[in-house]
Amino acid sequence: MSALTELYQQITHCHNCKLAETRNKVVPGEGPENATMFFIGEAPGWNEDQQGRPFVGQAGAFLEHLLSLINLTRDQIYIANAIKCHPPQNRDPLPTEIQSCQKWLDLQIDIIKPKMIITLGRYSLARYFPKETIGKAHGKARIQDGTIYYPMYHPAAALHQNRLRETIEADMLKIPGLLAQIEKIAEVTKETQQPTLF
Ligand code: URA
Repeated sequence: MSALTELYQQITHCHNCKLAETRNKVVPGEGPENATMFFIGEAPGWNEDQQGRPFVGQAGAFLEHLLSLINLTRDQIYIANAIKCHPPQNRDPLPTEIQSCQKWLDLQIDIIKPKMIITLGRYSLARYFPKETIGKAHGKARIQDGTIYYPMYHPAAALHQNRLRETIEADMLKIPGLLAQIEKIAEVTKETQQPTLF
């Protein structure tokens, strides 16, 4: 059994918070174990809770459109959420829920070792850059310990606010260039030991 499959079994049986009582299916995440890019959303919605898969509703369709802009399909990337279970009535995740779910996300990242972590929306942004706002941070990459962190708006935000559509598309289009630069920038970071913003 692969390390990721073993981890999914543990996540599926998780009872670390109260969402375990109301969820239909746990949504651990999906994608290849050697994915270069790791996208982190917020929380499973109703559709995801039914299917046990991330981003299968409208936001997922828009995410697939965004990926197509850089010639990718969803099976080439890893997708997970900050929390693995659907909050009832689609309410925002609670800080305690994010906290108790954090170890699963960290373990997924440890196994996959992506070159780039793309946070979608404010909850996954807060996990890495708690003092920043999505309005300012989106589309600006930072590199830390050889990994690129790249905040983007959540795809659902563009569905609700049409003016964000072009912004999120433009941010997506920057990804191939950032990946191409990573080796060069990783060298600089090693020398300065400072997170580099680019
Ligand atoms: N929104 C998310 O943040 N995650 C999903 O899986 C679906 C919608």
